[in-house]
Amino acid sequence: MISFVLGTRPEIIKLSPVIRECERRTIPFSILHTGQHYSYEMDRIFFEELELPEPDFPLDVGSGLHGEQTGKILAGVERVLSGHRPGIVLVQGDTNTVLGGALAAAKLHIPVGHVEAGLRSFDRNMPEEINRIVADHVGDFLFAPTGTAADYLRHEGIPDEKIFITGNTVVDAVREHLTIAQKRTDLLSRLGLEEMEFILVTAHRSENVDVREKLMGILDGLAAVHEKTGIPVIFPVHPRTRKMMEEFGLYLPSIRLIEPLGYLDFLLLESNAALLLTDSGGIQEEGCVLKIPCVTLRENTERPETLEVGSNVLAGTNPHTILDKAMEMINRNPSWENPFGDGRAAKKIVDILEDKSLIQ
Ligand code: UD1
Ligand code: UDP
Repeated sequence: MISFVLGTRPEIIKLSPVIRECERRTIPFSILHTGQHYSYEMDRIFFEELELPEPDFPLDVGSGLHGEQTGKILAGVERVLSGHRPGIVLVQGDTNTVLGGALAAAKLHIPVGHVEAGLRSFDRNMPEEINRIVADHVGDFLFAPTGTAADYLRHEGIPDEKIFITGNTVVDAVREHLTIAQKRTDLLSRLGLEEMEFILVTAHRSENVDVREKLMGILDGLAAVHEKTGIPVIFPVHPRTRKMMEEFGLYLPSIRLIEPLGYLDFLLLESNAALLLTDSGGIQEEGCVLKIPCVTLRENTERPETLEVGSNVLAGTNPHTILDKAMEMINRNPSWENPFGDGRAAKKIVDILEDKSLIQ
């Protein structure tokens, strides 16, 4: 059987198409939830909205320093997998859950499949860069979303037979939920927003929001964009960011701060936004897929395909650059091609696993 090891918002969303594909084919699987994310709006809401089965093995690891959190995940996943011995462990992305999950499985000689393999920012200050490199190098089945990601893996000496270009399951998830999301139009009226007449923001990267000057730079940039365009800026705030804004005493009256949203509400806002301003990985991709221009509040990205097709530009955290790039992107013609696949990544992943007789 397959064991899915997941624990954060993006992993739940991006693994949901693979889990569903297993359900469709009646392939036995279990879900091991590390508990890295645990607040209702960062975790449970996605199980409910995406109609996913309850986790079989909840670990309740919670928040903590990197070593502490990863150590608890490693020990917890090892304990569960030792008793359970699935045919393969699947992890997705680049969180501490991925690092702990992949390492625990590899040490037990259980094959590891890494969904969204081969992404590189070439910036090892990001905890995620270390996590994704380790997961790729202990992994046995590397499901690269694009040719670029596959090339990065080859350049690191990973043999071709481990690399499979599948597209990104983010496309599957968007395609499966957009129509359902678009029926929730009452959200726009509840928030007093008009289609294509608001800007949607998210920010949560530790290297951005844990540093006072950078977080202030982002907030000043948002205020400048609001002042210049006159359109509402709406910001569902990640709990890390909320905590740091309180700690630094930062507040911004001109920006609408709201609680993090469920996936369906978030998709509705994203697909109706004039512009996305974000440091999220998944939102750079979703903007590209939904044809909504994106300004990334970082100096680099592990999603260079979005820059190449023209759906995304980098702005960093300088308020002047954020304003310039926002003005450059807000009227961009969304004529780009989506480089992340045709929405059948989950099918391809499960086909490969069946083909290799890892699951029956
Ligand atoms: C993690 C991932 C990041 C991913 C993000 C998705 C790592 C190193 N980082 O970052 O790659 O982009 O998830 O959102 O794995 N908190 C809550 N409730 C929760 C979860 C977190 O209040 O359910 C607060 C806690 O104060 C916690 C802080 O957010 O200390 C950070 O949580 P953590 O999981 O460590 O990192 P994220 O910033 O969420
Ligand atoms: N998302 C959501 N509600 C929100 C913000 C984001 O459902 O309030 C979704 C978004 O659609 C995307 C994913 O969460 O699929 C991105 O997660 P996040 O930005 O936390 O992590 P990253 O992609 O940077 O790892």
